[in-house]
Amino acid sequence: MSNPSTTRILVCDDERGLREMLRVLLRRAGHDVVVVEGVRQALGRLASDAPYDAVVTDLMMPDGTGLEVLAAARERSEATQVVVITAFAATDRAVEAMRLGAYDFLEKPFKNDVLLATLDKALEKRAIVAENRVLRDRVSGRDTGILGLSAGMEKLRGLIARAADAPTSVLITGESGTGKELVARAFHTQSSRRERGFVTINCGALPEQLMESELFGHEKGAFTGAAGRKDGLFRAADGGTLFLDEIGELPLPLQVKLLRALQERKVRAVGGEREVPIDVRVVAATNRELEREVKEGRFREDLFYRLNVIRVELPPLRERPEDIALLAQHLLEKHCAYQHRSLRFSQESLRWLAAQPFPGNVRELENVVERAVALGAGPVIEPDDLGGRSVDVPSVSHTLPADLPDGFDLDGHLAEIEKKVLLQALAQCGGVRKRAAKLLGMTFRSYRYRLAKYGLGDDGDEEGD
Ligand SMILES: Nc1ncnc2c1ncn2[C@@H]1O[C@H](COP(=O)(O)OP(=O)(O)OP(=O)(O)O)[C@@H](O)[C@H]1O
Ligand SMILES: [Mg+2]
Repeated sequence: MSNPSTTRILVCDDERGLREMLRVLLRRAGHDVVVVEGVRQALGRLASDAPYDAVVTDLMMPDGTGLEVLAAARERSEATQVVVITAFAATDRAVEAMRLGAYDFLEKPFKNDVLLATLDKALEKRAIVAENRVLRDRVSGRDTGILGLSAGMEKLRGLIARAADAPTSVLITGESGTGKELVARAFHTQSSRRERGFVTINCGALPEQLMESELFGHEKGAFTGAAGRKDGLFRAADGGTLFLDEIGELPLPLQVKLLRALQERKVRAVGGEREVPIDVRVVAATNRELEREVKEGRFREDLFYRLNVIRVELPPLRERPEDIALLAQHLLEKHCAYQHRSLRFSQESLRWLAAQPFPGNVRELENVVERAVALGAGPVIEPDDLGGRSVDVPSVSHTLPADLPDGFDLDGHLAEIEKKVLLQALAQCGGVRKRAAKLLGMTFRSYRYRLAKYGLGDDGDEEGD
């Protein structure tokens, strides 16, 4: 499981002979070994080095106990496995060590192959813990903040992981409230630029001239009102990420200047002579359909291609109803914590939520949940508390006109009915597509195909259902 050439082990023992023996033994077994002779040194290494895969520590040392080393190692990373060795037959300490999360406890003298076998098992456990954590963090969005088990969100997290460190521009499109800003931030926090600035500007917020000086800075007296000189956001974001929100609103003349800055990787302040080199990763977002803006002459094609190197199209929430329950639970926890309340959803509520169209997407879902937390009376949130009365759960009622008009669109009418049935089934099954398929007596494949036909799903593999 573990790759021996990259396994890093910290050995801590005050006894020189044993220390050297362990160094040789573990190196020969193919591990990378760092050896220290006391608790203080061990704590120093644990704090400053990348987390170790395993730690082998003596228990009683002149400057402290192995329990401190154990606690520090576990604190640094829950994946690090600790094996405690001791000359004293001290069972109460052994118990304490296990309680603190030691993988195992060996009494001196121990046989070399017993230690090696114990370490191998410990490293296997480390690999499993680490792998589980990666999975858990991914779906829960712990690393990126992007929740969701739909194929679309899974793909998105993969893309961010792969492309976060590329210097190329990112263009994020999607309806309002689909998470464009969240994704922009994730590109930043998952990159090696994370220690530097994440600078945001709303491209539609200012008149053209102010916007230009906001972006590129200005010299003293460059225009009326420019009292001092100013650096501008490109320079503020140097080494980091500049988030150009609502890029579709950027006035055309500024689009030219932005394109030049991106191509030359230099900016010139308003009223300035000098071009200053910049190292900025640009992430842009818009809820406009930029392709159409280009066609209609409102957005420059060359800038579009410059930005559209990595493209993220965020699907609206109604196209990934399987994400709704997870998001709702997360938002419920968040707002319960804010409002010091303790509430949960009924199954009925979760089903109801999964069937809503949410034109305002995740932001609207959050508003609905926040309101329910503020106003909900009982410990359980029912559809009523979510406003469930005012909006109908889609039900398959289809009225036919008394007289069919000439040229009645039969196919359109049937499609409407089919769509409603597919959605109602999904709602009844809490957003779980496999169950919805079963309910309708069709294969999962054909259910998914029909959803996709109406733009209600994706053709990704089933996940989490
Ligand atoms: N996949 C997700 N997981 C967790 N939270 C999300 C997700 N998508 C969106 N959100 C949350 O929904 C809210 C709206 O997201 P955000 O502000 O990023 O949307 P937006 O696309 O920038 O919207 P607008 O176009 O209106 O500016 C935020 O609170 C965000 O954290
Ligand atoms: Mg936004």
